[in-house]
Amino acid sequence: MNNPVELRNSIGGQWVPGMGGDIVSTSPAQPDVVVARGRQADLAQAEVAIEAAQHAKKAWAATPAHERGAILVRAATIVEASATEWGSELAREEGKTRAEGIGEVKRAAQILRYYGNDADREAGEMYSSPRRGERIIVTRKPIGVVAVVTPFNFPIAIPAWKIAPALMYGNTVVWKPASTVPLLAMRFAEALIQAGLPDGVLNLLIGGSAIGNAMVSHNGIDAITFTGSTGVGRKLAVAAAARGVPIQAEMGGKNAAIVLGDADLDLAAEQVMLGAFRSTGQKCTATSRLIVTSDIADDFVAELAKRASALSVGNPVEDGVEMGPVVDASARDSINAGIEQAIAQGAERICGETYTSGALAAGYYVAPTILALSSGEPDIWREELFGPVLAVRKASTVEEAFELANDSEFGLSAAIFTQDLTRTLEAMDALDVGMLHVNSETAGADPHVPFGGAKKSGYGPKEQGQAAREFFTHTTTVYLRGGEARV
Ligand code: UN1
Repeated sequence: MNNPVELRNSIGGQWVPGMGGDIVSTSPAQPDVVVARGRQADLAQAEVAIEAAQHAKKAWAATPAHERGAILVRAATIVEASATEWGSELAREEGKTRAEGIGEVKRAAQILRYYGNDADREAGEMYSSPRRGERIIVTRKPIGVVAVVTPFNFPIAIPAWKIAPALMYGNTVVWKPASTVPLLAMRFAEALIQAGLPDGVLNLLIGGSAIGNAMVSHNGIDAITFTGSTGVGRKLAVAAAARGVPIQAEMGGKNAAIVLGDADLDLAAEQVMLGAFRSTGQKCTATSRLIVTSDIADDFVAELAKRASALSVGNPVEDGVEMGPVVDASARDSINAGIEQAIAQGAERICGETYTSGALAAGYYVAPTILALSSGEPDIWREELFGPVLAVRKASTVEEAFELANDSEFGLSAAIFTQDLTRTLEAMDALDVGMLHVNSETAGADPHVPFGGAKKSGYGPKEQGQAAREFFTHTTTVYLRGGEARV
């Protein structure tokens, strides 16, 4: 086992130890194994980081976009070359499998490369003018210093899809990652700084919610981008509104997969398994609700239960393991409490168990769990547990299936399994979600297309692709005429 890595913060171009309390990052598979340790940044250091980002913003905004992009592309090469090593660290620190960890690091490289090449794309718009001798041009400008607050579950991909566009469009960044995954955050910041970012353009503050709160209420912060829980996102949105600064918040999901009787059931079972249990269900895009038409429901759910019970659960860095632990003890306990509550409210446990002895009891493991809901309305139908738990309901008609899928305050993603094009077209209109997967799982995000939810899943402009520009830039509409007086 490697020695714990020493954690440092990056402030104004210097790698420095924090001046706040200790931070110890342990492995959720083996909580006595320390992955990284150090000290958190304190509020005085947060102040210095924000000042550094303010100080750097003018020169960075004036740097040609091709030069900014070249740094991101160099960072992509560093990240990609480190994929095996950092992916293993990610698995140890966060708990997803090593294959998923390596895949996520590679995804971060892909995102850096996508935005790094953005200077080659169009950079504004030109309109004709109703007046002679005039053109109207819309240019884009950075917003300034962006506070980036990221969650534990994608410790490098989500930071990449916020920080890469922020930097590419000429903003400077002060970043607070989730305190459960500081090592991967440090790795990502190292790559960007090593690739040549000027001092103060990216600042990394490792710490808890006090740092996040200090950032969002600070006058030196011009915009906030956040991914995480609905509760925290809404509080940050209030703080942002109070200061009149823009916020982009990506929050909860209670994503439904709908399986219709005509679907390829083998494909549907495979994809629902991936959506529900990959990354131990800890994705805002995970499938946490399954709606099956009554004609096939019993057989389909029995097949899923068979597959879920056969999943290899264990230490995510070991070969052959298909599902690791959840991120920490409090996540495990709250997921288990949610399952127990659902059963008390009438749900039937189709598969899943509580690990009370053996190696899995020592780590933060939750078994892949399927709960059938027939009567009443257990809270699990509405509340996001953020774990490997799938709640199932039957629908007697396709219309009822769509209604059940929409029966949520969230609308991040949905999946529909069918080979019927008419039903697919109906689903495109009927399902109130930001992302709809037809015959594939609810999770997944490509760098070049918009990512984000409908209803209460998201607040502010969407992420990724060209949609990210809507948040990370503002426009100036220029009415352009020549200087010569016209007669
Ligand atoms: C994915 O589905 O691959 O926090 C990405 C989350 C989402 C990212 C999902 N923002 O889980």
